[in-house]
Order: sequence, then structure tokens, then C-alpha cells
Amino acid sequence: MALTENSSRGSWNSKLGFILAAAGSAVGLGNIWRFPTETASNGGAAFILVYLVCCFLIGFPVMMAELSIGRNTRKNPVGAFKALAGGNKFYPLIGIWGVICGVMILSYYTVIAGWTVSYVFEEIFFFMGMTDWATWIANTENGTLNAIFSIVFMGATISIIIGGVSDGIERATKTMMPLLIAILIIMIGYVVTQPGSGEGLSVYLKPDFAEITPGLIFAAMGQAFFSLSLGMGALITYGSYLNSKENIPGAAAYVTLTDVSIAFLAGLLIIPTMYMAQSQGITIFADDGSLIAGPALIFQILPELFHELGGVLGLIFGVSFFLLLSVAALTSTISLLEVPVSYAIDEHSIPRKKAAMGVGAGILIISLVISFNVSLIDIIDLIFSQVGLPLGGILICLFLGYVWKTENAFREIDSGYSGFSNTLFGKIWSILVMVICPIVILYNLLSAIGLL
Ligand code: PHE
Repeated sequence: MALTENSSRGSWNSKLGFILAAAGSAVGLGNIWRFPTETASNGGAAFILVYLVCCFLIGFPVMMAELSIGRNTRKNPVGAFKALAGGNKFYPLIGIWGVICGVMILSYYTVIAGWTVSYVFEEIFFFMGMTDWATWIANTENGTLNAIFSIVFMGATISIIIGGVSDGIERATKTMMPLLIAILIIMIGYVVTQPGSGEGLSVYLKPDFAEITPGLIFAAMGQAFFSLSLGMGALITYGSYLNSKENIPGAAAYVTLTDVSIAFLAGLLIIPTMYMAQSQGITIFADDGSLIAGPALIFQILPELFHELGGVLGLIFGVSFFLLLSVAALTSTISLLEVPVSYAIDEHSIPRKKAAMGVGAGILIISLVISFNVSLIDIIDLIFSQVGLPLGGILICLFLGYVWKTENAFREIDSGYSGFSNTLFGKIWSILVMVICPIVILYNLLSAIGLL
């Protein structure tokens, strides 16, 4: 483990390692499953445009805020707000809210991640001619199966977290991230040369501005927070393992760009694939004429396409795709689990192994309940992700701007990017964090619940 100012907590071994780990946290089911479906159900390219604005105007400044709070305090989210609160009892609640959101998101994320593993088997069974088995294992309503795959996925997550920061998280993401990008690009290369995919490409890339509504903006903002892993302290935690010579704006820019690019690539794969599937006779429009989105998109239409392809090609595409999703999900679940685990280690002096196993097992119990009641996913996602994360984002911005104060954040950022506070970018960042982000996010949340 590398030496840092506080070596007992662990740290990243290299700048690249940190960026891959943070990008691994960001890139997940949010990019490959949720982004294309949100795009499909919100007017294609118009949604992408608003999403990009949300990522760069709101997500990127909030990410810098989280990283600077984390690196300055070298603590988990609760400890970080406690350290900067000057004795105020309420401010650490921002961190506690973050830990709660992380726990709840991980609990349902594990169940969906479990499906990605079960579909790897579905593809193999189908190839081997065991269609009954394939149908049986592909049933996302089967509580027992959901529970088994959730246990498998949580087990994998816990074992990486036990390995610690550089030997566990960094090493795992360093191999998995390039693998993920490679599989994605190969699959796009195949799909865009197939008949039918051109229509999908034009839906994906040609914006219709009339589609931009308050509902679309709310969806895009929620998607930006979820996809960039913001608002719950995941990046406070990852920032706490960051060397003080690292350039925070640069790292945040890399992570944001990687996340946005992979989401864009995933859309480039999924939307043309849907139209290609249509040209092969698979239904991609629901009865009301809208494009099929939601869980059905990945877990029903794509396997149908892989089956149509058939043979070894179908097997290779099917298995690679669901493996890709599992890998992307795993680099995200480790960051979700690291938040409560680092809290247990820092605040309650529990050794890493015990903390990872105890906290992981606790969250698994909620996952098991969800396994048997999958309809809970939507409501938990609405409260703790779509509303919870932007709410956390507002609190983090206000805390940084008015309690910790931007001059202290500037001092932290300047240590790895000398003179940042005097640049135009620095000045814009402080206005974004203190004024624009809180107002825009709040306006969006209030209008979504019908108060504005
Ligand atoms: N960003 C992850 C994804 O896109 C999910 C996530 C949310 C991870 C919040 C950590 C914190 O799938």
C-alpha cells in the first residue's frame, strides 16, 4: 500500500489508478442500462443535450466540491462534515444522509446487477439448446433466483472491498475498465454495420427541441447525479484517498468526460440495436406507440436479438454484453459499499475486513427483501436516488460555500493546481457552487414534485 499523509487509511497508488477507480464508480448500470432507456423515452437527442448541460454545469462542479472536501479531511462523508462543521451537530447529517442513500441504492443495485450475471447463464443455456433452463434463469420475478444472484454479487463486492484501496479497488478497476471499453467498441462496430441500425442512429443523434420539457430536465438531472456517483459522498470517500499533489479539476474533468463518453457509446450501441432488432421482426414499440424502455429494454429485447443472431456469434455477443454489464456494475457497487465501510472504519474503529463483511451482510438483507418484491426498486430509486442525490448535491454545495467557505476549498484545490483560485475558471466554479447549482437543483426538485 502506498504511503500518504495518513497511510493507515490507504491511498491510491497512481493518478491513473484513482481516475480509473472514480470513473469505474461513475460508469455502471447508470450508463449502459439507464442512460439509453432514459434517452429512448425522452426524445432521443434532445435528452442527450440537456443531460450534457447537467453533467458539465452541475455535475462537474459538484464533483470538484466532493473531491476537495474528501481530500482536505481525509475522512468518510460523516467524518468529513464533522471535521469541518466546527462543532455544529447538524452538518454531519449531510454525511449521514449520503450514507443512507448509498446503502439504499446499493440494496437494489445489487439485485439488478445480479440479473446481469444470470443473463450470462441465460445466453450460455440458450446456446447449448437448453431453452427451458434459459427461460427459467431469465425470470427476473423469481425471488429465489434474485436472492441467489444478489448473494453472489454482494460476495464479489465485499471481497474486493476487503482488499482495501490500492490492492482491492484500484487493482480491480484498472483491469476491468479497459475491458469494458473494448467490449463496448467491438459491439458498436458490429451493430452499426447491420441493416436497420441507421434509423436508430438518426433517432439517437437528431434532436427535436420541442421535446424539452420540465419533466425531461428533471430526468436528465437525476440521471447526471446517479451516473456521476454524486450527492452521497462516494467521491468524498474516493477523494479522501487522493494525494494532495493531484489536480482536482483535472481529475474531475477526466472522470466526467469518461462517464459521459461511455454513456454516449452505450446509447450508440443500444438504440441502433433496437432498430436492428426491429428489422429482424422483434417488437420494439409498446402498444401506445412509444419505444419500449425500462428494464424490458436490456433484459428482453437484447437477448431476443442475440438469439436471432444464433450460433457462436449470438453466444459471443450475448455473453460479452452481459459480462460487460456485470463488470460495469461491479466497479460501481464497490464504490457504493466503500462509503458505509469507510464510515465504520473511521468513526467506529472497526477493522476493514469486519466492516466490509458486516456492512455488506446488512445491506444484503435489504437486497433479499427486494429480491422477493422487485416492485420496491422503483420507489427506493425515486426517494434515494432521483430525489436523494440531487438533494445531497444542494447540501454539499451550500456547506462548501457558506460553512467551510470557498477560500478553504480554493486552498485545497490550489495545492495540486497552483493558482486555480485566481483563474477565471476558479471564479466561475465558486459562483456555480455557491449560487447556480443550489438554485437550479432546488428549482428542478420543487417543480418535479409540483410545487413550482
Ligand atoms: N454511477 C453509478 C452508475 O452509473 C451508480 C452510483 C451511484 C455509484 C451513486 C455510486 C454512487 O451505475
